[in-house]
Amino acid sequence: MHTLILKNVTVKIEDKIILDDFSLSVKTGEIHAIMGPNGAGKSTLSKVIMGDPHYELISGDIYFDNQNLKDLTVDERARLGIFLGMQMPQEIPGLSNADFLRNAIHQKEGYSFKLMSFIKELNSTCEQLKMNKEMIHRGVNVGFSGGERKKNEILQMYLLKPSMILLDEIDSGLDVDSLKIVGENVMEYYQKQEAGILLITHYQRLLDYIKPDFVHIMMHGKIIKSGTGELVSEVEKNGYEAILKELENHE
Ligand SMILES: Nc1ncnc2c1ncn2[C@@H]1O[C@H](COP(=O)(O)OP(=O)(O)OP(=O)(O)O)[C@@H](O)[C@H]1O
Ligand SMILES: [Mg+2]
Repeated sequence: MHTLILKNVTVKIEDKIILDDFSLSVKTGEIHAIMGPNGAGKSTLSKVIMGDPHYELISGDIYFDNQNLKDLTVDERARLGIFLGMQMPQEIPGLSNADFLRNAIHQKEGYSFKLMSFIKELNSTCEQLKMNKEMIHRGVNVGFSGGERKKNEILQMYLLKPSMILLDEIDSGLDVDSLKIVGENVMEYYQKQEAGILLITHYQRLLDYIKPDFVHIMMHGKIIKSGTGELVSEVEKNGYEAILKELENHE
């Protein structure tokens, strides 16, 4: 079993506090969904866990099992089994998707890396995700549509075999059929690999496939309310401001 723990994490960027004394713990075998308005700090949260150097952790700690992630680089965190499927995956012109994946996996697996089994798995996963094979040989995300980029993130996830998965709006840009493919595949992976998932989304539709055990509402860099799947309908019915107001009225 693995646990990701954020303890009183405060993050600043250009003198603005984005995560404010944020605490959360995610275990393998659990799915946590985070919902919240634009600018709440959701993507920042995922990037800080992954170790994006643009963000300054001014207080608090992030642990994976007993290890403090503070001084670990992005690749070191990835080697521990943490993975981020990004909201806006970047293009890397000049580096083919296949080379990128082969290198990443070779780096992670070291001597146990086997080229033939990598190629086999790459092909079968592409088929499973209904991705066009030609995308393997194009530059990473170069000329990919929004939905294709999201599927490419899931392809990376499958091949890297992480145990702690952060998915930032993996549903945005996906058509209904692709949403189903991605949702079902993430769920299949989760069950097979006994992973933990931190899922950032704006909509119920993804949660119909990837069913969360916990739902957290995030506003202004903090979790303001946690609950189960029912909280999603409350959000969709009333909106975030109403939830915040109700909490303030109870104080
Ligand atoms: N690199 C940066 N430079 C300046 N401001 C930033 C940077 N990254 C994030 N911010 C600011 O931090 C706040 C939180 O951004 P973040 O991307 O985490 O929001 P979000 O909750 O993911 O929103 P959305 O739902 O729109 O994706 C925003 O006000 C954003 O402008
Ligand atoms: Mg975001």
